[in-house]
Amino acid sequence: MLEPHLTREGVEGLSWEALARIAGTPFYAYSAAALRDNLARLRRHLPPALNLLYSLKANPNRSLVQKLREQGVGCEVCSLAELETVLLAGARPEHILFVGPGKSEQELARCVELGIKAVVAESEQELDKLQALAAAAGKIQTVGLRVNPDFQGSKARLVMGGKPRQFGIDEARLAGLLARRDEYPALRFAGLHIYMGTRILDAQAVADNTGNILELARALSTGGWRPDFIDIGGGLGVPYFEKERELDLAALGAALAPLIAAQRQAMPDTELYMELGRFLVADCGVFVTAVRYTKWSKGQRFAVCDGGSNCHSAAAGGGSMLRRNFPLAKLGAAGGEPETYTLSGPLCTPTDVIGEQVALPPLRPGDLIGIFRSGAYGATASPVQFLSFGHPAEVLVDGETVWQVRARDQLQRMLAEQQPRLLRAADEQEAADALVC
Ligand SMILES: Cc1ncc(COP(=O)(O)O)c(C=O)c1O
Repeated sequence: MLEPHLTREGVEGLSWEALARIAGTPFYAYSAAALRDNLARLRRHLPPALNLLYSLKANPNRSLVQKLREQGVGCEVCSLAELETVLLAGARPEHILFVGPGKSEQELARCVELGIKAVVAESEQELDKLQALAAAAGKIQTVGLRVNPDFQGSKARLVMGGKPRQFGIDEARLAGLLARRDEYPALRFAGLHIYMGTRILDAQAVADNTGNILELARALSTGGWRPDFIDIGGGLGVPYFEKERELDLAALGAALAPLIAAQRQAMPDTELYMELGRFLVADCGVFVTAVRYTKWSKGQRFAVCDGGSNCHSAAAGGGSMLRRNFPLAKLGAAGGEPETYTLSGPLCTPTDVIGEQVALPPLRPGDLIGIFRSGAYGATASPVQFLSFGHPAEVLVDGETVWQVRARDQLQRMLAEQQPRLLRAADEQEAADALVC
């Protein structure tokens, strides 16, 4: 339908009915071929000097990370779990950047223990903490400085820099900080990182951001300091809604080429990185939910599905000002004149709507609905524990092979996690009773 490997009929030639029979619904399906195609398309158009990092926040599934790692993509992580995931997926420490404004001591200590490529520091207090940890471990840790620049990113749906934000260190403080870098003997200030915003569909806007970032990096490269690497962020978007157009990758490549060439000429030894989440994985995934009931309510036709906004918050408008329909379809055989449906999930809230006023062939219980372009910010950005339904299953199709790459949350495990554990006893008798239990 939108992507040759993920159509209304099936994924990589396997029918949705067959997949739903072995996976159970609701589930996310990913296509390995779509992932490979996306990466190849990016590499065809982007200047080769730009190294790619995958941002796990878009989708932390270990098997997807592994597929990207196998093709030479590095990793940008923001939590201990993401860090351990990429290690399991085959990343070596030198492939990993750790970003995020609220890193814990445990996370920083693990970065130092591994000696990852760089901890991207977002505040001066974080630098102090990292200095102390690295010194105590007798190590030198490489650091990137995340900059909150004075310029604004244009055309991003969500702006991360250029205004008061919890991210990064203000541009105005950077020159002073770099001049004082000797105060951090256990840290090597090796890089700069700037991330302007997400969901950018305008090639020129990405190029303008990049030009501003590289100019700022050059301005900061004074007083005998030069970055070993510059991470220019990215924020490349995919179209979800009516009237949104695909990002023109050829135009983006053409607009970036002279900027990257000039940068390479000015600093030939400085590595360049672009970190991407959504663009790499969004259209590799489909969320599949099954119709449980159909009904009328005061003149409106509803199809109630077994997975809704609890599994796919974005499709219900989570994180957006306005709820709009993701690309969606009845999967498998079409059949029949279209009828207008509101698609809802199993939650007891009227906001659990994943499709509004959608024209679909007549639906019956058991029919499958696919929400396309759902490989990024799907379950990972959804309240999967709402009403205790738990995380849906995830499957990866690679040719004729199908892997379950994440098990559905098991009821017994979810209940076991709520087993009370005494943390503080009111008196000795209570403590003794707890021991007996
Ligand atoms: C620092 C940082 N890097 C990377 C990303 C991934 O962005 P995207 O999925 O738009 O590529 C984000 C998203 O918020 C981010 O905050």
